[in-house]
Amino acid sequence: MDADVSTEPRAPTGTHDVLWPESWRWEELTASFARQVERANYGLVVSPMFEYAEIFRRGIGVDSDVVGKEMYEFADRDGRVIALRPEGTASVARAFIERRPTIPWKAWYVTPAFRHERPQAGRYRQHHQLGVEVLGSADPELDIEVVTIAADFIEGTGVRKVELKVNSMGDATCRPAYVDRLREDLEKRKALLCDDHRGRIGGNPLRILDCKTAECQAAIEGVPKLVDSLCDPCAAHFRRFREGLDELGVSYTLDFRLVRGFDYYSRTTFEFTAHSIEAAQNAVGGGGRYDGLVEMMGGPPTPGIGFAIGIERLLLAASAEGTMHEHPPPPDAFVVDVVGGGAARGIVTELRRAGFRVDRAFDGRSMKAQMKLADRSGADVALIVGPEEQASGVVTVRTLRRHGGQCTVPRSGVVAEMHRRGHDGDE
Ligand code: HAM
Repeated sequence: MDADVSTEPRAPTGTHDVLWPESWRWEELTASFARQVERANYGLVVSPMFEYAEIFRRGIGVDSDVVGKEMYEFADRDGRVIALRPEGTASVARAFIERRPTIPWKAWYVTPAFRHERPQAGRYRQHHQLGVEVLGSADPELDIEVVTIAADFIEGTGVRKVELKVNSMGDATCRPAYVDRLREDLEKRKALLCDDHRGRIGGNPLRILDCKTAECQAAIEGVPKLVDSLCDPCAAHFRRFREGLDELGVSYTLDFRLVRGFDYYSRTTFEFTAHSIEAAQNAVGGGGRYDGLVEMMGGPPTPGIGFAIGIERLLLAASAEGTMHEHPPPPDAFVVDVVGGGAARGIVTELRRAGFRVDRAFDGRSMKAQMKLADRSGADVALIVGPEEQASGVVTVRTLRRHGGQCTVPRSGVVAEMHRRGHDGDE
C-alpha cells in the first residue's frame, strides 16, 4: 500500500528519528566504543546495509525468527532478492570470505539493523548496533577478551544494573545428541508448552529453552542441560573461558536457557540483561562464538566470535539509571551582527577555523532577538557588531554566563581574545 500523501509525512512504523541533543548521547556512545575497541586493535569495517538475501538465509538459518519472519526482503530492479541487514555478523563473515584479510581479523562496526518485529518500547524495526567480530581464532582467551570488552564498555556508560549471562552451545560433536535427548524430554512435557511451541518440538527444540512465556518457562524446569552434555574439548573451552572471567573479576551467571536466536552459534554464548528496563526487551547486548559460520557460508573453515550491543536499549537503560545525562557542550561564542550579516560571516569563519564552536543568527533579526538566541544557545560570550563597533573597527564582547560584564576588542583581536578567555580553539 502506498503512503497516504494527503496527510503529513510520517516515519515508517517502528522507526524513529534521533534529534539533537538526544543524538549527542549517540555520538558519545559511538565515540567511546570506537576508543575502547581500537585500544584492543580492532579496526572499523563498513559493509553494505543490504546483501543478497541468501547470505542471511545461509548464515543465520531459515527457521530463525529473524530470517523466517522478520527480514525485509525484496526483489531489486534486476530481479535479485535483496535483504536489508537484520544483524551484522553474517555480512562481516561474507566480507571476510570475499576479501580474506589476515587472521585473526579483528573488526568493529556501527550499523542499523532491520527486523519486521512488533514495535514496542525498546523494540524497533530499525535499531542500531555497535559490535565486534573476530575471525580466525578458536582460543578461549579470545572469548575472554571479547566479553571483557563488552562488559567494560557497558560499565563505562555508568549502567550498573546489568547481568552478564553465559552458556555454551557445544559443537557439532556434542550438540546433536543433546538436541535429540532434549526433544525426547520435551515430547513428554508437550502439553505444558505454549501454543507457539507445542507443535514445534520437531524443529529446533533449543528455541523452546529461550521462550519467554510463563508456560514454557515452567515446562522446561528440570530438562537436561547442554552444559552437562558437552564433549571434553567444549567443556575444557568453556571452563577456561569462565576461569578467565573470574580472574579478571568480570561477574556473570550461568544460564542454560541462553541459546540465542541464530543458528550460527557454537560454544560460548552470552547476553547482557538490563534489570532497569522492561522485562521482555531487556537484552542490551549479546553474542557468541560461531566456529562453523564461515564454512557454512561457503568459505574456508574459520572460527569466529563477536557481540553486538543495541544502542537504543543501552540508552534506555542509561536513562532508567540516570547515567549518561551530560549535555552537549554549548558554543564558545554567539556572534550578534546588526549591520547586515557580513561581519558575523567573517567572525564565525575565522573563529571556527581557529577551532572554536561558534554560532550566529540569520535573517537580519533585531538586536533583541539575536541576544535572545545568543542566550538560548548557552554560549559563554556574545560577540556584538553594531553600527558603532563597525565604524570603529571593534567588537563588543559581552559575557553571558558567569560574572557578566563587557569590553571591546579590535576586530583583528577576536581570536586572541577568545584564547585569552580560556576557550579551547586550536592554536
Ligand atoms: P542480537 O541479540 O539479535 O544479536 O542483537 C544484538 C542487540 O541488538 C540486542 O541485544 C538488542 O540490544 C539489540 N536489538 C535487537 N533487536 C532489536 C530491536 N528490534 N529493537 C531494538 N534493539 C534490538 C545479534 O544481532 C548478533 N549479530 C550479535 C553477534 C555478533 N553475535 C556474534 N557476533
